[in-house]
Amino acid sequence: MSMKTWASVDDYIVEALFDADPALDAVLAANRGGGLPAIDVSPAQGKLLSLLARMQGAKKVLEIGTLGGYSTIWMARALPVDGKVVTLELDPHHASVARSNFERAGVSDRVELRVGPALQSLAALAAENAGPFDFIFIDADKPNNPHYLSWAMRLSRPGTVIVCDNVIRDGAVVNEDGRDANVEGARAAFSFIGGDKRLEGTAIQTVGAKGYDGFAIAIVN
Ligand code: SAH
Ligand code: DHB
Ligand code: MG
Repeated sequence: MSMKTWASVDDYIVEALFDADPALDAVLAANRGGGLPAIDVSPAQGKLLSLLARMQGAKKVLEIGTLGGYSTIWMARALPVDGKVVTLELDPHHASVARSNFERAGVSDRVELRVGPALQSLAALAAENAGPFDFIFIDADKPNNPHYLSWAMRLSRPGTVIVCDNVIRDGAVVNEDGRDANVEGARAAFSFIGGDKRLEGTAIQTVGAKGYDGFAIAIVN
């Protein structure tokens, strides 16, 4: 099975199940036009995040790693009118592209974007008692995964769902001797979730337009 097949099947899923979505297409075009790396979640993955947030009945969502806001918009669309996504981004250029995308997609009223190192923003959110969040999506610099998970626990309640992206990495997650910092970050997410008695988790391996990767998914007890 090849990357080409995975991408074709992803196209099939979108064609069969999704309404035409010029606003989201424009978001991806703006991201590429702005020179952002093509590491947004795929459309099928974005919709999965949206469905998970709805299944969870989420009103308050926290995202770590905005990029151009593609995943943010999918999650914002899952929220009731009084819901909110707080999304954290280090890079001011990514943040400004994201901000105009939120306008374009009509979700600005439901999104709060904080620019700066996520570890600082997370400390500020905790100091402001901004939690608990119902749904938390971790998708930033992978070596910080254990720190992000640790803040996620502090900003959660029993029943909070935590999703962590890119934890399979072409299967490299099982190569223990690998020295890749991103792979180590993936392994660190597994160790954290496996080691924290309050978390019940699993992971799903995904193939598609973005290759072979996966999500860790956990619930706080
Ligand atoms: N969630 C996005 C993709 C995020 S890509 C989507 O699916 O559409 C990862 C993002 O994390 C990048 O924009 C990168 O600039 C940001 N990032 C990296 N290190 C960070 C840090 N320390 N704090 C906050 N954001 C960071
Ligand atoms: C990378 C980061 C991501 O968030 C992603 O979805 C894919 C790749 C990366 O840094 O390589
Ligand atoms: Mg990712």
